[in-house]
Amino acid sequence: MSLPDDLWELPHCHVGHQVLVFRSVTSTNEVAASLADDLAHAGVAILAESQSAGRGQYGRSWFAPPGSSVLLSVLMFPPPELRRPALLTAWATLAVAQTVQTICHEVPSLKWPNDVLLRGKKVSGVLIEQGRGVVAGIGLNVNQTSEEFAKVQLPCAISLGSVVGQPLDVFATARLLLGYLDRLYDQIMRGQLTDLEVQWNSLLRLLHREVLAELFDGTVFRGQLIQASFDFLQLKRPDGSPVSLRPEQVKSLSACDMLGR
Ligand code: BTN
Repeated sequence: MSLPDDLWELPHCHVGHQVLVFRSVTSTNEVAASLADDLAHAGVAILAESQSAGRGQYGRSWFAPPGSSVLLSVLMFPPPELRRPALLTAWATLAVAQTVQTICHEVPSLKWPNDVLLRGKKVSGVLIEQGRGVVAGIGLNVNQTSEEFAKVQLPCAISLGSVVGQPLDVFATARLLLGYLDRLYDQIMRGQLTDLEVQWNSLLRLLHREVLAELFDGTVFRGQLIQASFDFLQLKRPDGSPVSLRPEQVKSLSACDMLGR
């Protein structure tokens, strides 16, 4: 790893007490993962102004013009019982949602499993990668214009700056996000998962609605979402029969009325 261009030390308990800031890296997730051999790096955050090989979900790439976005990864070593994909994704997406709400004074929503939407458009994506540690990577659009998104064939993306109507300080946005990541992680470590599940469900906006659940193995279930927790989802099918699914089986989960079905 090359030397960072700057180092922040924030008064946080779990996440971001050290932030290594780079002008450019391949991928902040890759840099964070390279620190995972040493448990002393727990909570270290990597922040970059640009990435040459930013990674997205399902092997896709993640591109953002230099200085336009928060490109952040944090390295954590949660105890085994907390290494649950849905919980870790909820932690990161809820921290993004709180950041978005603080800046824009609008309530965002979550799109299963890892997107944060504002006005129905994607403002942020999260990529959790688990190896020796857990790397939570977050891309948050801050200053792109709708014209810039259209030029790169991303008409369904939005930035915070375009909503508030003025350019925003990307590093200040990153600090705010790190604060929320730290506070929510503290809540998790204290075992306050129910409150987190409630917030997650409220932003997913799927409970008690008719949903389509598409699994990674290609199976599709339709039914009313009766319960969604970090451990299982329960659907009631049109014939009344129940289906229980583990969140990590589910590739997409959407309300049927949103899909026009
Ligand atoms: C998605 O596909 O929606 C997830 C995108 C995650 C992108 C972020 S940018 C910072 C971090 N570093 C990466 O290489 N990817 C994540």
